[in-house]
Amino acid sequence: MQKGGIALATIDKHSLTDTYTLTNGVKIPVIGFGTWQSKPEDAYNAVKWALAAGYRHIDTAAVYGNEEAVGRAIIDSGVPRKELFVTTKLWNEQRGSYDAVLSAFQDSLTRLGLDYVDLYLIHWPEPAAHHNDWQHLNAETWRAMEHIYHLGKARAIGVSNYMERHLNELAKTQKTPPMVNQIFLNPYAPQPELTAYNSAHGMLNEAYSPLGTGELLKDETLTAVAKKHNKSTAQILVRWSLEQGFLPLPKSIHEDYIKANADVFDFALDDDDMQKIGALAGKGRQQDDPSKFTFQKQIPALH
Ligand SMILES: NC(=O)c1ccc[n+]([C@@H]2O[C@H](COP(=O)([O-])OP(=O)(O)OC[C@H]3O[C@@H](n4cnc5c(N)ncnc54)[C@H](OP(=O)(O)O)[C@@H]3O)[C@@H](O)[C@H]2O)c1
Repeated sequence: MQKGGIALATIDKHSLTDTYTLTNGVKIPVIGFGTWQSKPEDAYNAVKWALAAGYRHIDTAAVYGNEEAVGRAIIDSGVPRKELFVTTKLWNEQRGSYDAVLSAFQDSLTRLGLDYVDLYLIHWPEPAAHHNDWQHLNAETWRAMEHIYHLGKARAIGVSNYMERHLNELAKTQKTPPMVNQIFLNPYAPQPELTAYNSAHGMLNEAYSPLGTGELLKDETLTAVAKKHNKSTAQILVRWSLEQGFLPLPKSIHEDYIKANADVFDFALDDDDMQKIGALAGKGRQQDDPSKFTFQKQIPALH
């Protein structure tokens, strides 16, 4: 691709329908649409706008409380199911046993109105009630995830917020390795060791909070880079993520932002930009420590 005589050689991704390939051969669209903190009515509109704008990858979770609205938006969009990539996540309070996982998964499918998902993730490695026995909990949960995968009900399975210690422990019992690790990933928190570990072990790095839940949008360095390219700061952040080989999951409930956040395929960051952005590492919010996370929320069972 050329623009203004400059070759955009940094990545081979040129549209929302371009994909990464997971270790099992499943293709996953390079930008996912985030829905955390989107109330059901907002999530419904946002997902419809996102699909109309060309996104083909939607990221939700049982704990977001919007699976039903996301599912309705998917159906009402008219986009054929096979063109979509839908991720949901298993929440902490739903995973005491192997059977609890299967039941939680079925509840997510029912809420979404789907008969399979493209990616099912364990949302969190150390639920508050399991800070002392997360090793056993994760092994048992993963056994159920593998069963769901082998049934063809999830085309891929993975984890989220896992650190190296969780992944090393899981590797002792897993038969099918996780294909994705979805983590807090942006220029303030580039997590070089963990992303290198994930890549070396066949996991795609999905970047949640690519805009730092909005925190990075006011950063002076980033706004200066944005001005230079005549782009928005959000676009710089989504592009940065792609140029690292990550899969960003930008979220918005505003139609104009939703469209603009995916308009990132007509420019490239240069070495000077990358150096300036690289110097932001360590600023602001970082990945939460799973062993200190105490948030609990019950998700009502459907049966
Ligand atoms: N696995 C996990 O534990 C986990 C944790 C967090 C997030 N995630 C996933 O990652 C997704 C993204 O992360 P995130 O929700 O933390 O946030 P984010 O995408 O980093 O930032 C979203 C925030 O930025 C605002 N925004 C978006 N585009 C904008 C633009 N062009 N101009 C100005 N403001 C803009 C949004 O406001 P408006 O919505 O008002 O437009 C919202 O406040 C989530 O939605 C979720 O799917 C996963």
